[in-house]
Amino acid sequence: MQIGEKTAFITGAASGLGLAAAQRFVAEGARVFMFDLDAERVSDQARALGDRAGWASGDVSNEQDVKAAIDKAVSQFGAIHINVNSAGIGSAGKTVGREGPLPLVQFNRIINVNLIGTFNVLRLCAAQMASQTAVNDDNERGVIVNVASVAAYDGQMGQAAYSASKGGIVSMTLPIARDLARSGIRVVTVAPGIFSTPLMEASPQPVKDALVDMIQFPKRMGAPSEFADMALNIVQCNYLNGEVIRLDAGIRMSAR
Ligand SMILES: NC(=O)c1ccc[n+]([C@@H]2O[C@H](COP(=O)([O-])OP(=O)(O)OC[C@H]3O[C@@H](n4cnc5c(N)ncnc54)[C@H](O)[C@@H]3O)[C@@H](O)[C@H]2O)c1
Repeated sequence: MQIGEKTAFITGAASGLGLAAAQRFVAEGARVFMFDLDAERVSDQARALGDRAGWASGDVSNEQDVKAAIDKAVSQFGAIHINVNSAGIGSAGKTVGREGPLPLVQFNRIINVNLIGTFNVLRLCAAQMASQTAVNDDNERGVIVNVASVAAYDGQMGQAAYSASKGGIVSMTLPIARDLARSGIRVVTVAPGIFSTPLMEASPQPVKDALVDMIQFPKRMGAPSEFADMALNIVQCNYLNGEVIRLDAGIRMSAR
């Protein structure tokens, strides 16, 4: 799909990878509708992008919040062709820690935002895309880009909930691509390695150093703009579908 004049609905768009995708898409001539829990930050970032950006605040796991935001995006820009699902949270906690077994409420929260939130947004965006006319000779109507993590494959100690949430995103990629094939909608998941975003920068320096040590080449954290490169490529390459792409400079996380 050519990105110029298309509209992207991007979650987690106030910060990090989602924000980088929004900035790149606008630079490439698209319109973006930015959705995030952080109302102040998402409105500031949308304003900075000018009249090609709209915004709404809400929770990806809340049906009403997402429906209202999609309605607003469609009334503002007329359609949704691209959906990038970058909203996500991380929280460490061992299965049995010093305080006892991991509270189920903590496990539920991560699954609810990362996995159920991603599915909630993509199903509602896909319904909107399916109702629109096709945009090219392939009869393409939409592209969905999910964000998992390499923790889906080699999660660290304390990452049971996070890894499960991202593993769910990896596993649902193919069946969703199959579900949406007849509607002309592609689904691709990116599994990032270690990226320099507020989420990662919040980790203690020794943790960051240990993670960077496991990267092959280039031996540094990824830049959010490199995630944006990938997201743009996924949108533009019509033959890419039902796949999960590790974007990780060859990192394979070992046990600590
Ligand atoms: N940074 C990394 O190294 C890395 C690595 C692998 C995967 N990821 C994944 O990439 C995605 C983006 O992460 P990031 O590093 O840009 O983080 P970030 O914290 O910079 O941005 C995440 C954004 O999501 C928003 N958000 C959180 N919960 C939400 C909710 N319930 N509803 C709506 N918005 C919500 C936050 O307000 C924030 O603006 C996440 O899914 C994360 O798990 C990041």
